[in-house]
Amino acid sequence: MSNDQARFPEGFLWGGATSASQYEGGWDAGGRGPSHMDYIRRVPKSDLDRTYPINVTWDMFQDAKAHEEEYNFPFRRGADFYHRYKEDIALLGEMGYKTFRMSISWSRLFPTGLEKEPCADGVRFYHDVFAECHKYGIEPLVTMIHYDIPVYLTEHLNGWEDPKTVEYFVNYTKFLIDEYKDEVTYWITFNEINMIMNSSYLGGGLFTERSGRPAETCIHQALHHQLIASALTVKYFRENAPHCLVGNMIARLQNYPYTCNPDDVLATQQQNQFNFFPTDIQAKGSYPSSILNYYRKKGIEIEWYPEAQNILAEGTVDFVSISYYHTAVISAEPDKAEPIGAFIRALKNPNLTTTPWGWNIDPVGLRITLNDMRDRYGLPIFIVENGLGAHDQLTADATVDDDYRIDYTAAHIRAIGEASGDGVEVMGYTSWGCIDLVSCGDAQMTKRYGYVYVDADDDGNGTYDRYRKASFDWYKNVIATNGASVLEEE
Ligand code: BG6
Repeated sequence: MSNDQARFPEGFLWGGATSASQYEGGWDAGGRGPSHMDYIRRVPKSDLDRTYPINVTWDMFQDAKAHEEEYNFPFRRGADFYHRYKEDIALLGEMGYKTFRMSISWSRLFPTGLEKEPCADGVRFYHDVFAECHKYGIEPLVTMIHYDIPVYLTEHLNGWEDPKTVEYFVNYTKFLIDEYKDEVTYWITFNEINMIMNSSYLGGGLFTERSGRPAETCIHQALHHQLIASALTVKYFRENAPHCLVGNMIARLQNYPYTCNPDDVLATQQQNQFNFFPTDIQAKGSYPSSILNYYRKKGIEIEWYPEAQNILAEGTVDFVSISYYHTAVISAEPDKAEPIGAFIRALKNPNLTTTPWGWNIDPVGLRITLNDMRDRYGLPIFIVENGLGAHDQLTADATVDDDYRIDYTAAHIRAIGEASGDGVEVMGYTSWGCIDLVSCGDAQMTKRYGYVYVDADDDGNGTYDRYRKASFDWYKNVIATNGASVLEEE
């Protein structure tokens, strides 16, 4: 159902998104300490266990530490932004970016997480990056933590399970606010705060088997600490940098019922409530009754952080943000579900095609989600991740003919314009991995999302030189016309 009111507001923030652990590289440069992502290895495809690197156990972690010299650790290299940031930001400037989403590596500033004072080289690096962005009129959009915890905290405190991690994180975020508040207006506290429920290692830097708590309780305890840390950070923004705009973020999964059987519809509603509950807390300031009922039913007992209710109520965000990749089909009989990509299980949707990694392609679902979120929160919405992971081939004339990426992105941008025409306040769109980087779910370089090709393979071979893909000029034109070029194609 197209919408002839489709439009993009003036000042719409077009851009692209990255994360430090997948993009920055320079893992041991400038005094940086190791992050838990630096211990995820690339497992050869033939041995690929679908649960890796989603599920890193304590034994796997010990094994990685024991074989530091032999194993392949792609997140240590990223796409080498650390050494090439000037060239990369110039490319983003050439595309006319209004914003660039990046994250800060906590361990580049506080190598173990425990230090009181940050590492000077790291502090300077981010000043230089922000200055470079402003040179091209690009507003940085900074994620304070994107799956990236100093490994010391993972090893010694079991990551976010320990309330002391809240204290260390807030020490870090207060520093970020004091130091960079005049260079960065747009902030996100946690990347995909709900992903800890799909991957406790990625999202929480924790090993459930090392906890004295049952696994699910351990995960929700750690999530509680993250929600508290986020709220304390937002409160500090309010008191010390009121001009900054701060958002939360979840991996949004729009769920559809398998049939119109009310049992399927109810199961779908519950999945949607479950997906939204961290945003409910971060946008409205308290735990919704649906999740408290779930805790009661499952016997999950959370140790509430002191003054939790007040902290959450005082730390609500200015905008809500999402990553959006695919949707899911839910049946009241969960055994019917199959894996979709690396992260979730759901039914296949026969109406949709999928990417080479099995993620269904559903631009209309994005319009539905944006409308739902407007009704639920009444806050501006930022789509801070979306994109197509594909096998790209560099041609003899040094480009990539990625029409498939153009088609995918155009369809999603059109859906955003239509949602905007429906009356949703959308702040901006930053497509994922705008310059090729290491895939998170598969720890590989060959799942590429960018408008710029990076000459590197899964083993780190290659020059790391950058090449403009066909989508580069296409996206440049989308930005130059404020989305009109896409809407007119309809
Ligand atoms: C999001 C994450 O879940 O999906 C990113 O925030 C990630 O870090 C992106 O890279 C795409 O997933 P993948 O597994 O294709 O890299």
